[in-house]
Amino acid sequence: MTMTQPIVFVDGAAYESFMGVWSRKVGDTFIDWLAPAAGQRWLDVGCGNGAFTETLIERCAPAAVTGIDPSAGQLDFARKRAGTAKAKFDQGDAMALPYADHSFDIAVMALVIFFVPEPARGVAEMVRVVRPGGTVAAYAWDMLGGGFPAAPLQEQMRAVGIEPPVTPSVDASRMEAMRALWQGAGLLDVRTREIIVQRTFTDFEDLWTTSLKSPAAGPKLRDQPDARLAAIRQGLARRFPPAADGRITYSSRANAVSGRVPG
Ligand SMILES: C[S@@+](CC[C@H](N)C(=O)[O-])C[C@H]1O[C@@H](n2cnc3c(N)ncnc32)[C@H](O)[C@@H]1O
Repeated sequence: MTMTQPIVFVDGAAYESFMGVWSRKVGDTFIDWLAPAAGQRWLDVGCGNGAFTETLIERCAPAAVTGIDPSAGQLDFARKRAGTAKAKFDQGDAMALPYADHSFDIAVMALVIFFVPEPARGVAEMVRVVRPGGTVAAYAWDMLGGGFPAAPLQEQMRAVGIEPPVTPSVDASRMEAMRALWQGAGLLDVRTREIIVQRTFTDFEDLWTTSLKSPAAGPKLRDQPDARLAAIRQGLARRFPPAADGRITYSSRANAVSGRVPG
């Protein structure tokens, strides 16, 4: 699918509120499922602002952690996180990892595969830099199956005639596509699972202001005339009636995949 306009990640703090909270929830279940051994050398591809990097350091007792991402702004935030002192961060692209063959024990992509223009190249690069017997794994929102946390917002935008920006490889987030990518890269013992997570907002205002921080939809929403923005907001509010205490809770769904490098 073609990107309608580039989605640029600039603000690490805004990302943390919009998506980092969700990412760490999925990341926790992903790590339970992956059950990695302690003492491994990790590569976090598309580490962004370090949301998953911090989680893996907290949970996995790694020997070493490298994060890589194209966005200088996100990396700046990642380097300043309280829980990432152990990690080293590099700027770069998933499709051309600047690392020697077999440099890591495990490589992961957390909410990234749908951003990579050629997902198979990205997976091949992870396979190349992981040692034989190591692990290559990922999780991604099920973009086409309604799993993305911002899917309701995207639907409200479409309802008023605005096409929300989409990532270049949404198809790669389907479970079958992820399995095929992993098998096509020669990975063994390929396993998949669905991960459903819930997030609670204090009220609709919290949900709305968080939505406006989206690096994809946010800039487009801020460009809309007031009346159209109000129509989107009202449509979204109708979809999320608050509980008696005013809070709003909803679920999102990700697909996860893991495989072993041959040898
Ligand atoms: C949704 S964020 C995920 C960030 C982090 N992994 C997390 O779990 O919160 C997607 C990240 O992918 C990065 N990205 C986009 N295109 C990329 C590419 N070609 N190679 C590596 N990372 C890329 C973006 O800069 C962004 O930080």
